[in-house]
Amino acid sequence: MKINGIPYRTIWPAADGKAVEIIDQTKLPHVFKTLLLSTMLDAERAIKDMEVRGAPLIGVTGAYGAALAMREGASDAALQAACDRLAEARPTAVNLRWGVERMRSLLASLPADERAAAAWAEAARIADEDVEINASIGRHGGEIIKAIFERKKTAVNILTHCNAGWLATVDWGTALAPVYYAFDAGIPLHVWVDETRPRNQGASLTAWELNQHGVPHTVIADNTGGHLMQHGMVDMAIVGCDRVTAAGDVCNKIGTYLKALAAHDNGVPFYVALPSPTVDWTILDGIKEIPIEERSAAEVTHIAGLCDDGQVRTVQVTPTGSPAVNYGFDVTPARLVTALVTERGVVHQPNVEKLRALLSPS
Ligand code: MRU
Repeated sequence: MKINGIPYRTIWPAADGKAVEIIDQTKLPHVFKTLLLSTMLDAERAIKDMEVRGAPLIGVTGAYGAALAMREGASDAALQAACDRLAEARPTAVNLRWGVERMRSLLASLPADERAAAAWAEAARIADEDVEINASIGRHGGEIIKAIFERKKTAVNILTHCNAGWLATVDWGTALAPVYYAFDAGIPLHVWVDETRPRNQGASLTAWELNQHGVPHTVIADNTGGHLMQHGMVDMAIVGCDRVTAAGDVCNKIGTYLKALAAHDNGVPFYVALPSPTVDWTILDGIKEIPIEERSAAEVTHIAGLCDDGQVRTVQVTPTGSPAVNYGFDVTPARLVTALVTERGVVHQPNVEKLRALLSPS
């Protein structure tokens, strides 16, 4: 996608061929800054501190982290240690583990002196595949938006939560890929952007990238979606996800479940967009089995923003001494999901059999 007219991905090999560059997402929307990741520890930090975030993008960053590690030392012990460490940088998005395990199994099968070059090529392949997958999600999901427009004949109102746009992937995004696809095809649409407390990925990242692409949108406080749905102001909701169980339960940014409940109560279709590596085939029950990341309470008690003097500052919004807790994700049961939108097609009312038939890797 383009930033001020210049095409970018969220992660790319640096010109010297020895490092990777990323867009520092902790600085958006007020400052556009890129960062160089030169070591495996840089990649681990970028994932943990959310300089990169979004399930597919942290999977690719994990893969590049393994490639950077192989430059520092490619013994069996170094490979295992680097992969173990990278896979644990964040717990919920299964894409991180998927990307790192793909690197581990390829590299373990090679002699140590071939690992550095092979790792670099494999990480680039994973990044390119992500772009292809998301473009395909865009085509499938774009048809859903188009069908609503053809029925309704006026602009399609789409609600989304968190950021599942191109910033959360290498390019295109998952939930926003259909939006870009439909918008580029000339379909009139408008996006309701949940702010997505506590880190505000909607207000800061989704709004920023929609703005860059010229897509009409409105940022709303997180609690607004139910009201809009009751008044017929939402035609569909679409979100991304960090892990989907083999039965179709969806784990995504905290607050997604409440939007799915409101959508169900109001007959608003609730779509979830995902690349196939987001399915965790080892589990069925998302509520019982998906580990939910708990982040610092400071993300709840404090908020950052642009001040009148042009400086970005962090301020405290809670009384000193009030405890806070910060669960990063929640699980939406499959029964609340209208359809999963994948690169291979759309799975309506997902269940084990339908997911396996369309997406199973074996
Ligand atoms: O904590 P984050 O910002 O990494 O959470 C991101 C999300 O929850 C996204 O919706 C999800 O990763 C899908 S990204 C295409």
